[in-house]
Amino acid sequence: MHHINDSTDLTVEQIYDLIDCAGDIAANPKKYANALAGKKLATLFFEPSTRTRLSFEAAMYELGGNVIGFSSAAASSTSKGESLGDTIRTVGCYADIIAMRHPMEGAAFVACMKSPVPIINAGDGGHCHPTQTLTDLLTIHKEKGRLDHLKIGICGDLKFGRTVHSLINAMSRYEGNEFVMISPEELSIPHYIQYEILEPRGSKWTEARNIEDVIGDLDILYMTRIQRERFNSEEEYNRLKDCFVLNADKMTAAKSDMIVMHPLPRVTEISTDVDGDPRACYFKQVLNGKHIRMALMLRLLQDAYDGDWVEKATADTVKNVLKCTNPRCISSTERELPHLFSLRNPEKKVYRCVYCENKIITDDLL
Ligand code: NCD
Repeated sequence: MHHINDSTDLTVEQIYDLIDCAGDIAANPKKYANALAGKKLATLFFEPSTRTRLSFEAAMYELGGNVIGFSSAAASSTSKGESLGDTIRTVGCYADIIAMRHPMEGAAFVACMKSPVPIINAGDGGHCHPTQTLTDLLTIHKEKGRLDHLKIGICGDLKFGRTVHSLINAMSRYEGNEFVMISPEELSIPHYIQYEILEPRGSKWTEARNIEDVIGDLDILYMTRIQRERFNSEEEYNRLKDCFVLNADKMTAAKSDMIVMHPLPRVTEISTDVDGDPRACYFKQVLNGKHIRMALMLRLLQDAYDGDWVEKATADTVKNVLKCTNPRCISSTERELPHLFSLRNPEKKVYRCVYCENKIITDDLL
């Protein structure tokens, strides 16, 4: 069975197929009106959401299917102490496909291991958010006509911004893309993105500390919110919260065909005087998100993808010889979950938690 934990669970060809399918759905909605009649989607949202949950639900209804689910952890048996694994096995008895958002990093991986039906990761803590990335890829393809040879500025919270992690993972697979990471030092991209995604793929990337220095060179400016809920201290959040604000004045230095993207919700990082600019694409992204999720659910429920996801994802892992040190990792809260690690660099003894991708360098196996 196939699951979508991150955007790279789909090949580049499968993503082009989804983009084509989403285009056809947008052009011929009637053709798809009963495509998933009789099917049920469960939306399990342990964390707040507007766009992602509602777009999944709208997508399923527009394909003729039905939706069950909950929109907060308080409304589920988690509040009685049920494990995530048990919740997923239960819901898998009622639904044909599950879209889940959870505050812990790696929670989607656990859901994939336990589920009898396909799982779609709708955001796991600060880790990944693959369906936002599919939305972004569809938007870039529509607006720029290609997914390669683009200079992409990514601005804001690059440490905790899960949409950023999935977007870099996806866009670095296409030839000639270059990244400009615009963030305060404290919020720069995680180690694994740098050493296990960008470097091995030979992707060029640079860092910048303000928008004005780089905006004139960019084809895409992807703005993000500072992720308040992931900070350990409110004081640290307050210090960084308004570090970047894009406004109409700064847009005058951008190329006439640069596009501005944002996964939304925005707080202060894009001022509303940018909204009327034809280069502002963030509300177009919202509509694209529904169409690409329709395409994805269609393909998953058509069983279009080969291979067993869990078998592949857990091959070559070591079990219970280390413990993840990331307090936001699902392995710190889920009971009786095996601690699974992959060995990434035998010489330097670098291990990576398969759930949250946290790095551990050690000689000291348990
Ligand atoms: C994003 C998320 O939840 O990660 N929102 C979304 O799904 N469109 C971005 C964010 O919350 O900042």
